Amino acid sequence: MIIRNRPDLTDNDVTDRSVYNNRRTFLKQGAVALIGVSGLPLAACSADSSAMPNDKATPLDDITSYNNFVELGTSKSSPSRNADKLITRPWSVTVDGECEKPGAMDFEDILKGQALEQRIYRLRCVEGWSMVIPWTGFALSTFLKAFKPTSKAKYVRFQSLLDPEKMPGQKRPILSWPYTEGLRMDEAMHPLTFIATGLYGEDLPAQNGAPLRLVVPWKYGFKSIKSIVRISFVEQQPLNTWQETAADEYGFYANVNPDVSHPRWSQRKERRIGEFRKRKTLFLNGYADQVAQLYQGMDLKKNF
Ligand code: MTE
Repeated sequence: MIIRNRPDLTDNDVTDRSVYNNRRTFLKQGAVALIGVSGLPLAACSADSSAMPNDKATPLDDITSYNNFVELGTSKSSPSRNADKLITRPWSVTVDGECEKPGAMDFEDILKGQALEQRIYRLRCVEGWSMVIPWTGFALSTFLKAFKPTSKAKYVRFQSLLDPEKMPGQKRPILSWPYTEGLRMDEAMHPLTFIATGLYGEDLPAQNGAPLRLVVPWKYGFKSIKSIVRISFVEQQPLNTWQETAADEYGFYANVNPDVSHPRWSQRKERRIGEFRKRKTLFLNGYADQVAQLYQGMDLKKNF
């Protein structure tokens, strides 16, 4: 049973599949806490039946076979089929730009330096589908602080691996490679912003962005850049890949917002993978209590 931090959590949040049945594997990555879809820690206590539509974790098979990862193919099923091409060891991440201690770190050393946690987050794709994913990983802020960003660091830019042998989709100019994303500094340092290194208690599968990917649960899924090799502190707002591809369709902020339509479709509803009936999309993907203040006074229709 769980403490109900938010009214939209139900006991179904934590009963799906191996996640909680098999705590042994769940703890394999050295996890120290369980965090619910609200982003707040779960603990043993009683369940509240006044809950809103439930957020049952999406089955592992769906999370790992229905993917967007253009570097591994353009259909939903191709990233899992091409996953073996993406060799993720050795892997190093370079952190540079406006910081006092730039440097490169091997993935294994990054893991050693972080206390891993479990977090169950909703992921809402701009295309209109959503999932609930039990991640393992660490807060981005704890990682970034070690590089001592300076006062000039206003944004953080992320880049995925550029290697057409390991990422065959890069042999075609579908997008401008490497895949690039960005966050404002306060978004990057927000406690909900997460680097995932695993899911369902196991290492992150290649198709989900191994060995490490960003997760920003209140933003559309395209912000969650996969297989990161470079993180740069920058002064100017970076241009992200999808914005570069179609600026009228994909913005920098990409905050989940049922009131701001994509130019070609409404964002009011979503299809949770595995469900038949569509659900209403929640403002900021249901994380408004925690993050709405980041956008106070901003016109979210302009800054989409
Ligand atoms: N990262 C890279 N490098 N390349 C991509 O094509 N697709 C994005 C994002 N990260 C993508 C990426 C999109 S559109 C979404 S919805 C999510 O990854 C999907 O994550 P998932 O496949 O783990 O559900």
